[in-house]
Amino acid sequence: MKQLFTYILLLLLTAGNARAQSPTFHLPKWIEEAVFYQIYPQSYQDTNGDGIGDIQGIIERLDYIQSLGCNTLWLNPCFHSAFMDAGYDVIDFYRVAPRYGNNDDLRRLFDEAHKRQMRVVLDLVAGHSSDQSPWFRYSQQKEQNPYTDRYIWTNDSTICPPKFITGHFERNGSYRKNYFDCQPALNYGYGQPDPACPWEQPIDAPGPTATRTELKHIMDYWMQMGCDGFRVDMAGSLVKNDPDLQGTTALWHELRTHFQSLYPDGILLAEWSNPQKALKVGFMMDFIIHFGRTGYGELVFNETGTYRRDTCYFDLHGVGNPNLYIANLDDCLKVAGNDGHLCIPTGNHDFQRIRCGRRDSEAEVRTALTFFLTQPGVPCIYYGDEIGMRFIDGLPNKEGSLLPKGNRAGSRTPMQWDATPGAGFSTADLDQYYLPIDSACNRPNVAQQANDPDSQLNYVRRLLALRREYPALACRGGITFMQTGTNHYPLVYERQSGNGQRLLICINPSGRTITTQRECRQPIGRLTPILTQGDQQRISYKRGKLHLNTPPLSIGIYQLQ
Ligand code: NOJ
Repeated sequence: MKQLFTYILLLLLTAGNARAQSPTFHLPKWIEEAVFYQIYPQSYQDTNGDGIGDIQGIIERLDYIQSLGCNTLWLNPCFHSAFMDAGYDVIDFYRVAPRYGNNDDLRRLFDEAHKRQMRVVLDLVAGHSSDQSPWFRYSQQKEQNPYTDRYIWTNDSTICPPKFITGHFERNGSYRKNYFDCQPALNYGYGQPDPACPWEQPIDAPGPTATRTELKHIMDYWMQMGCDGFRVDMAGSLVKNDPDLQGTTALWHELRTHFQSLYPDGILLAEWSNPQKALKVGFMMDFIIHFGRTGYGELVFNETGTYRRDTCYFDLHGVGNPNLYIANLDDCLKVAGNDGHLCIPTGNHDFQRIRCGRRDSEAEVRTALTFFLTQPGVPCIYYGDEIGMRFIDGLPNKEGSLLPKGNRAGSRTPMQWDATPGAGFSTADLDQYYLPIDSACNRPNVAQQANDPDSQLNYVRRLLALRREYPALACRGGITFMQTGTNHYPLVYERQSGNGQRLLICINPSGRTITTQRECRQPIGRLTPILTQGDQQRISYKRGKLHLNTPPLSIGIYQLQ
């Protein structure tokens, strides 16, 4: 009897422990209705004539952003920085970069957004700082101080393992970088420290513990000011040598527990491009983008841009293949289940825009935009994509835009509010940083498109309105692709809602008419067009098959009955 009692007690205790190890988290409901708009602050709207966008400019454009149908901003880093990596090299994590305004301006942005039922997510550069940060200056001193272990230092400057940087430091050591050399990695410890390398500290050593505490302070600071959450830069990079992600999981579980206990409505998003991992370690959403085997590049990267490919799916040549994307999406959706979300953005500051190189007509851009904005998950529009801004090739390096593979400057050019080059930006800045754009080329801009019902801008508004109107297009709506074998064009998929609403989406990004068939397991009675572009598609259902005739660059969204 006594033995049985001890056994039951043990069982209860271990069950309690297991619970303590994997905390139960909740997902703020509003993410499901979120429509993101990503703003690269330096290029959005300048209000003081210094040639650089600012927070006041963003405040003045909130109504415009809302008019698109977006309700959540994600701002690229806006903190005091050396701008060797466009703000991802932070000097002071608690201070807005003076070029953008001050902390009170950011507080006003939070307030003004909230007045409009909008939200603001900041970029949290958790993995590194600038080498000009005071933390780093203290850390490189010889004398022991609170920042000695804020970064990862070897104990001898002649020891320089891969990714470590030597230099003229007061202490005898080289430091671990996280991205560029000027971005020393903050020390969150190693998942599997090698005892032969004393700088590889365990995650619960005093240095990493202090770094975690500081990160919580930073998050608390902005959340208490009114921020609604964070997009965590290089979210998987913090704990080093962590193949099974145990250290990373412990870190983000601890941070999320802290975060959710104080800000139950706050959100934590990962830049990982691997929801399979990001959601598991505790993030609420991950972006499916260009790195990893996501298939994103296979969809839209052509021969021009930051990352170049010979073929892609959204191309007039019509020789691409969407299958890698489809397979990865399927996998990600299974993993996400009810515990997290995916976001497949129209673009971002790290790779080329949709309108790029030979993909240069509005009709072509619309095929890709329709695709992105009818995918499951949370939509995200990269500023300027709504008007079809181009990726500008051949620009000089601007604030660290240049990577070994290509230049990111072409996606970071000033928002085109009207027809003048970089409206709201001084010509001095444009001359210095951006090659003059050929004035003969049609430059998409907001002023010209705002009141034209057929403009790209109003097309995007319509797509976002459809997402609100049709539950099948919502974040949690289902998706079934109807691709077959090597028959890759057109792209045909169904979106479904929980209560039986079904929409069929058919996009032919190629330059030729395609007549084909697709298996369709669920019978279709009637197809009612709710949005079409280009020449008319002919689609009919007969005995388990969809018969499709799709003209070049045609788009159709149909309700199925
Ligand atoms: C990812 C950011 O998106 C990119 O712009 C930056 O250069 C690196 N992380 C380093 O912070």
